[in-house]
Amino acid sequence: MKILFLDQSGKPGGAELCLIDIAKPYRDRSLVCLFADGSFKTLLQQHQIPVEVLTHQSIAVRKHSSLFQAFSSLGQLTPLIAKVVQKAMAYDVIYANTQKALVVGAIASLIARRPLVYHLHDILSSEHFSQTNLRVAINLANRCAALVIANSHASQQAFIQAGGRPELTRVIYNGFDPKLYQTCASDITKLRQHLGLEGKFVVGQFSRLSPWKGQHILIDAIAQCPEKVTVMLVGDALFGEQDYVKQLHQQITQLNLQHRVKFLGFRSDIPQLMTACNLVAHTSIAPEPFGRVIVEAMLCGKPVVAAKAGGAVELVEHGVNGFLTTPQAPQELAQIINSCLQETAKTTTLANHARDMASQRFDVTIINQQIAQLLSSKFESNYC
Ligand code: UDP
Ligand code: GLC
Repeated sequence: MKILFLDQSGKPGGAELCLIDIAKPYRDRSLVCLFADGSFKTLLQQHQIPVEVLTHQSIAVRKHSSLFQAFSSLGQLTPLIAKVVQKAMAYDVIYANTQKALVVGAIASLIARRPLVYHLHDILSSEHFSQTNLRVAINLANRCAALVIANSHASQQAFIQAGGRPELTRVIYNGFDPKLYQTCASDITKLRQHLGLEGKFVVGQFSRLSPWKGQHILIDAIAQCPEKVTVMLVGDALFGEQDYVKQLHQQITQLNLQHRVKFLGFRSDIPQLMTACNLVAHTSIAPEPFGRVIVEAMLCGKPVVAAKAGGAVELVEHGVNGFLTTPQAPQELAQIINSCLQETAKTTTLANHARDMASQRFDVTIINQQIAQLLSSKFESNYC
């Protein structure tokens, strides 16, 4: 099956990293088209996945766009849709990996008469999107998609609740290669030395810097923890949220925590950095659609504490393979950090159990088989 993948982003967020794993088995007969240039293109090339950037103009639609803005961006989308229609003629299926890709892919699928798959990486609710964006996404998916792959039951339920047709949906979790999360102990010791983390209890947060990812909650929490508890923030303001970065620095100064919070920016050595932590914290203040970082922490054999909402609840069972705290509750988070600090043996057992469980449950080979079976059962008979 020849697949034309579409993704709006030039930067590698979780949906894009997931797409690399999905597109890889199809790389000899597929193409990924992006709506922006950037480091995601380079990553795809490193994985020998054919990629083309279709436009260098950024698309004006934002997560909270109004109906007027949505309509006015249609003019901008027209040349892009025309390019996708032209490309799609050489492929069997259009696979939209993001919301703007859905808009372009849906219209192109009607014109090119190619089936459309929508990989839903978002929780389509008003906490994340404007009413206009929700309506556009649901209507286009209902009318044009032959299949909606949701990254969690939480994303699937939100889609249905917003008016999406249940029979279109299947849940498939993100897949991971457990081998990539095995690290060398001496490298980790060196990394900790290099980062000045010896003797510290390190809590890592691995998300782009964005208000809904809730880095501020973790900073508030460590203000209630002993001095040796240090925070490592790994990730950048990928989508221009510089004001939030400023706010974080102000909060750190006000709480006098400058010596206990490190900003590392965007990094590509996530397994090493996670392994260098004592605990990984996920602190999103709005429901997380899936939460790759939660699974990655488990695969590194590190204890993880996650905000109890959305897909995170499907990944973590409190006290069994990690910890859950009420979203936006820094005091509760501080209690978990403090208990991990004290009960190291118990926490290590839990983290080892989480690693074993995650290695099986999210194995990329099995997840890719699920996707392949789903795609061939839906579309293959048309192309024999
Ligand atoms: N990530 C990364 N470098 C960073 C910060 C994060 O490669 O500096 C990766 C992280 O390992 C994870 C992804 O970005 O695989 C974020 O995915 P997640 O599903 O947790 O959240 P998203 O940002 O997609 O909402
Ligand atoms: C999106 C979601 C994130 C999910 C990722 C991969 O970026 O925000 O929760 O893990 O897609 O599906």
